[in-house]
Amino acid sequence: MPVVEARNITKTYTIANREIRVLDDVSLSVAEGEFLVVEGSSGSGKTTLLSLLSGLDKPSSGRVLLEEMDITEASEDDLAPLRNETIGFVFQSFHLVPSLTALENVMFPAEIRRDPQAHDKAAELLKRVGLQKRSDNYPHQLSGGEMQRVAMCRAVINNPKIIFADEPTGNLDSENGKAVLDLLLEFKKEHQTTLVLVTHSIDIARIADRMIILKDGRIS
Ligand SMILES: Nc1ncnc2c1ncn2[C@@H]1O[C@H](COP(=O)(O)OP(=O)(O)OP(=O)(O)O)[C@@H](O)[C@H]1O
Ligand SMILES: [Mg+2]
Repeated sequence: MPVVEARNITKTYTIANREIRVLDDVSLSVAEGEFLVVEGSSGSGKTTLLSLLSGLDKPSSGRVLLEEMDITEASEDDLAPLRNETIGFVFQSFHLVPSLTALENVMFPAEIRRDPQAHDKAAELLKRVGLQKRSDNYPHQLSGGEMQRVAMCRAVINNPKIIFADEPTGNLDSENGKAVLDLLLEFKKEHQTTLVLVTHSIDIARIADRMIILKDGRIS
């Protein structure tokens, strides 16, 4: 069963009266438990594709299905529980809440669900990526790679069915990159989590089930 499916999606942006077609009739189906890597040069539409598949943005045409539910026209209210429980998202720019500490950022999605273990789970996750001593730091007191790891912990705390991660190891040295990847792979093993990762890492592509390359708005 596909967990997420794009059917003939097109995404265009209009800048100064000129239409730019970033995705052009892209169809894609990601199976439950699959590990998919998305590749392509800068500007090829990788982030755009992830935003559409996860319901963060709407396609200009075509349809997106998440767990067989058509989310193309879903409202913010319909999407909110999906974002909290079904999807984990790691953004290229992290999107941490500046007024919350690292620990509080990780706890946040679990607290929304009133998970009594929110604190302990968050502390454990931070420990797994080597950040136990940074729990009380605010995002502006963290390095880029540390913010990235906090964002990863936040994305997995509710055991999502599918994790979308946009270059989750891009800012990390090999040791911390491995810690983040190991965390993802453990989740995949323990919970059959589906992974959709944008990455330029050959090492990650090698262990993925499948890789797609975006070029000229299409999967090449
Ligand atoms: N909101 C927007 N308005 C107009 N154009 C946009 C917008 N968002 C993205 N684009 C354009 O769409 C194209 C694809 O952007 P996208 O961010 O998906 O690329 P990417 O493959 O993720 O690149 P990178 O590897 O640099 O992160 C780019 O040419 C970008 O300029
Ligand atoms: Mg991008």
